[in-house]
Amino acid sequence: MRALRSRFFQRGTAACPEQSRMGPRLCPNNTEVMAVSSVQIRLKPVTEADLPDYVRWLNDPEVTQFIRADPGTITLEGEREWLARINAPDRRGKTWAVEAEGQHIGNCALHPDESGLNAGFGIAIGDKTAWNKGYGTATVAEVLRIGFEDMGLHRIHLCAFAQNARAIRCYEKCGFRHEGLQRQSVLKGGQWHDHVLMAILRDEWEAAQQHTREGKESED
Ligand SMILES: CC(C)(COP(=O)(O)OP(=O)(O)OC[C@H]1O[C@@H](n2cnc3c(N)ncnc32)[C@H](O)[C@@H]1OP(=O)(O)O)[C@@H](O)C(=O)NCCC(=O)NCCS
Repeated sequence: MRALRSRFFQRGTAACPEQSRMGPRLCPNNTEVMAVSSVQIRLKPVTEADLPDYVRWLNDPEVTQFIRADPGTITLEGEREWLARINAPDRRGKTWAVEAEGQHIGNCALHPDESGLNAGFGIAIGDKTAWNKGYGTATVAEVLRIGFEDMGLHRIHLCAFAQNARAIRCYEKCGFRHEGLQRQSVLKGGQWHDHVLMAILRDEWEAAQQHTREGKESED
């Protein structure tokens, strides 16, 4: 467990096809340096005491609009089984509860593949009052640090519903790049949805860290 003050910059050079759709600051490879979250979060192991929050959040259609969970189906018993699975000794993945200002606000996870070098990432800030305050961005930045620095990963990838503009913006701010679009790949609420594929490589993350250090030095 560690407190985090995240301040993360990203710089790139490529043209930005997303620009007109989402606004200039949404470009994943914009030439501008982007500063992101400066709020504090804490990652901690999930405990039994966190489970009622997950039941409440994952049964909320607004929270689950862009994730695979089906609201109305999540039970405390099911969450207990999930907790046992994530704590299994042979499990490769890492799952954390997210805290901000002493409150449990969500959950995030890294799922390394068999090589131990590539991992999928997932996040849900379930407390809706915590949305749009930078906590998601701070959480992603900290998980990237753990993934690349502590776990030695080479690549971290994710997929997001294409309509989930807030999540996509959050990932772009942390240095994830767009890799493609899976058309109508998810059936939810009786409708097909597109999935955006994004990833960040260790080299890209390290370059962003270096740039952050240089930025700090020039400020001093
Ligand atoms: C997606 C999620 C992780 C983002 O976390 P958050 O703390 O709300 O996001 P942040 O405040 O760190 O950043 C959100 C960014 O998106 C922007 N944003 C918000 N709504 C937006 C919209 N409709 N269109 C474009 N950008 C939007 C915000 O302005 C902010 O960018 P800025 O800092 O440049 O202003 C969180 O909202 C969440 O978990 N939602 C529910 C579950 C979910 O969707 N999980 C992700 C599955 S892929």
